[in-house]
Amino acid sequence: MKTKPKFLVWSGAAALLVSTLGLVRPAFGEHENFPDGEGKSTLIRVCTQCHDIESLSRVRYTRPEWANLVYSMKDMGAEGTAADMEAIIDYLFKNFGKKE
Ligand code: HEC
Repeated sequence: MKTKPKFLVWSGAAALLVSTLGLVRPAFGEHENFPDGEGKSTLIRVCTQCHDIESLSRVRYTRPEWANLVYSMKDMGAEGTAADMEAIIDYLFKNFGKKE
């Protein structure tokens, strides 16, 4: 046994590269762009049933625009009560709102 098998060296290097680039993200890091507050848990429960919501934190909408979006998602099948939808709209407008 003089040298290590080459593939071991390479797989180690590849793993290091991947983790350095942040391609493997720990699951608990999700939703870090969403400030804690009333409505956050409702947003996550209702709005992650079909897709992730990371892109929501990068836009700024007026209240009617958020309401439009949330109700169009309800029409598409998002499951939540009317109160859930209002809580989500309030949360989104409070944290990612734009003045009218
Ligand atoms: C029943 C499945 C479902 C649920 C639940 C859902 N969505 Fe969606 N969402 C979709 C689909 C399908 C699309 C793509 C539709 C399209 O491009 O017209 C989409 C697209 C989007 C988009 C990008 C399209 C756009 O109009 O800008 C946003 C933002 C979005 N959803 C936000 C939300 C929010 C906020 C909630 C929670 C209230 C939610 N979604 C819940 C199915 C869902």
